[in-house]
Amino acid sequence: MTPSEIVRQLDQDVVGQSEAKKVLAVAVYTHFKKSARALAESVELVKSNILLIGSTGTGKTLLCETLSRILGAPFVTADATTLAQSEFVNTEIDAILQRLLEKAGGDVSRAQRGLIFIDEVDKLKAVSDRSRASSGESVQHALLKIMEGSQVRLRSGEYIDTTHILFICGGAFVGLTDIVKDSAGYGYLSFSTEANDREVLNRLNTRIKPTDLLTFGLIPEFAGRLPVIARLNDLTRDMMVRIMVEPKESIYRQYRELLKSDGVELSIKPAVFEQIADVAMEYKAGARSLRGIFEELMTNVLYEIPDNPAIRKVVFSSLFEPPQLLGEAPPKN
Ligand SMILES: Nc1ncnc2c1ncn2[C@@H]1O[C@H](COP(=O)(O)OP(=O)(O)OP(=O)(O)O)[C@@H](O)[C@H]1O
Ligand SMILES: [Mg+2]
Repeated sequence: MTPSEIVRQLDQDVVGQSEAKKVLAVAVYTHFKKSARALAESVELVKSNILLIGSTGTGKTLLCETLSRILGAPFVTADATTLAQSEFVNTEIDAILQRLLEKAGGDVSRAQRGLIFIDEVDKLKAVSDRSRASSGESVQHALLKIMEGSQVRLRSGEYIDTTHILFICGGAFVGLTDIVKDSAGYGYLSFSTEANDREVLNRLNTRIKPTDLLTFGLIPEFAGRLPVIARLNDLTRDMMVRIMVEPKESIYRQYRELLKSDGVELSIKPAVFEQIADVAMEYKAGARSLRGIFEELMTNVLYEIPDNPAIRKVVFSSLFEPPQLLGEAPPKN
């Protein structure tokens, strides 16, 4: 699969985030290509693990899940905060690899070509509080070894070589934008009047540099093993509306199917999606709030329909008004 084919597939489930999709697709494509070559010609693999940066609920986990499904590669997610709270980090890391092996159906060689997504790595940053600082940092150290590639002996006795496993780390990195702004250093190009040059300049200046990650609190060895950085944009109101309607498995489609199985047609006017998006924007949890608001809207309908077989159609025109229930004329008795 080429990078553009990967992006096209991602587009079916993930709304927007075209920049991140592109970076991810190229990185994954390159990884599997390099990995195949390294295996065939037994040359060393220089791995390009990926760092996904984006606010909560903007699609980081969704992107990784979709990606692994497209690639048909075994995939597991782990949470960095759980690792940081655990007393036995190495046991936890063992468990992650064990899960990957299970996902691969016990096939070690498949597991060795899987993907591991470690979420919330920004929570591993060094903080001034000594005890917590050491825990976050020690997890970064513990992860170094498997990210780089090593033979890990699992508790089950099997060995897993992590050399060809691609690691994708994710995190919100709140505050990183300010660090990037402060450290932005490209200004000389601006003598040029060409708009094109200014665009290049802007891109260079909003680019996250490895040193920014160090300022944020990652240790150099950890940041150094994440050479590919992809950023997700904060969701706009328009993207929120599209998320409810467009994806193959969008909430709207799911509920339409659900009601259809009861012989009821569900119709929601565009204005309602916009109202839901407005409320969700205020919650500042990305697209994650959409489902809750949507489900609240549907509760009464789902409650009433089973008792009223005459209802054939439900029409919502506003988030703040009850829906119109249309049906056959009630039977006369
Ligand atoms: N760009 C998007 N396109 C489609 N759905 C999205 C998008 N972003 C978020 N969602 C929806 O919002 C929910 C939360 O998204 P996801 O779990 O990917 O967030 P996240 O970026 O991993 O957040 P966190 O940092 O809190 O883990 C998912 O169920 C997904 O359906
Ligand atoms: Mg997530």
